[in-house]
Amino acid sequence: MKNDLQAAIPDFLKGHDDKPVGAFFAPGRVNLIGDHTDYNGGLVFPAALTMGTYLTVYERSDHFSCGFVSENEPAHFHLRGEELLHRHHSWVDYPLGVLKEFSDRGYNVLGYEFHYRGDLPIGAALSSSASIEVVTAFALNELCGRPFTLLELVKMAQHAENDFVGMNCGIMDQFASGFGKLNHAIALDCNTLQYEWVPLEMAGLKFVIANTNKKRGLVDSAYNQRRSECQQALELLKTRTDIQCLCQLTNEQFDELSPGLLDGKVFQRAHHTIREHQRVREAVGALKQGQMGRFGALMNESHDSLRDDYEVTCPELDFLAMEARGYDGVLGSRMTGAGFGGCTVTLMQEQQVDAFIHDLGERYFQHFGIRADFYVADIGDGARKV
Ligand code: GLA
Repeated sequence: MKNDLQAAIPDFLKGHDDKPVGAFFAPGRVNLIGDHTDYNGGLVFPAALTMGTYLTVYERSDHFSCGFVSENEPAHFHLRGEELLHRHHSWVDYPLGVLKEFSDRGYNVLGYEFHYRGDLPIGAALSSSASIEVVTAFALNELCGRPFTLLELVKMAQHAENDFVGMNCGIMDQFASGFGKLNHAIALDCNTLQYEWVPLEMAGLKFVIANTNKKRGLVDSAYNQRRSECQQALELLKTRTDIQCLCQLTNEQFDELSPGLLDGKVFQRAHHTIREHQRVREAVGALKQGQMGRFGALMNESHDSLRDDYEVTCPELDFLAMEARGYDGVLGSRMTGAGFGGCTVTLMQEQQVDAFIHDLGERYFQHFGIRADFYVADIGDGARKV
């Protein structure tokens, strides 16, 4: 069975016309501040990158199978019938989860080749998986005559990851990939899904992304565990107050309610979440008023809280974020995304960027024996036809 599925590319591509029926793109994202708040009904502040996933769709000559190929992955899939409905424990589960969302709503998409190409680092907390899901949802919607709104597509992409892939993620990544806007970040309230595009008027500053290139293991289970600890905190707090999600509490309300009710890890997780939500609110205000120093200080606080209370950093992330703060021109630095590896994001003066990348890169290599990759963040638009 496995050999059948992982057919070699030349055979695999035999089935389609040369002419593609459409080409699509969905970006990855960098989250500027607000991590592990989305599934607690809190605020997040991501921005879509210009890097992401491209998808070209071809029509097959048969009308009962689908093919999936990625230029970034060795395994290629040619699937039919039941094979389309089950996980294969591979990258193909992301598109298959989205296909299933469509089929659950009465749209059975068959007879296409899906050809993916990405320029995001994979598994580096820049939402490579969300970009695959969102570009697939966007493409299927076009193939089906656009029955769904962009918000519905974003929710279907998130649901595919929760239900099919088994990662209990919030909505931030898929939302940013769908709703990104050139040179804007998105202030998104994950409780109401109200959002605002905030212009990134950077006045000589840049966001610099540093990829630890640390292999992340078991992120999904550690992530799901954090989620369930937050759920436990919520259940306990609900015995004292009428809330639906943690981020409905102010810092003061939390400080009043938690003694004697929450302790240990459950306290720490809720403590981070509620304070991080308030930090995002303040950071968005600071950015709008051009108070970039304050924005940077909040980034630092956010990292420290993710390290100490939420315990999702690692030595590599801590090194890059903490050392960054010692460089000339750096206003703030933090991990971004789920953590356990992946990337930091640093707000800094453009003039210092080259020296910073060179020097921190060398020191990181000397310390860990791993080369970090650096990107000056280019903020682009969300999912679209190309
Ligand atoms: C991952 C998840 C998001 C979010 C972040 C942490 O990227 O997919 O939903 O929870 O982690 O902020």
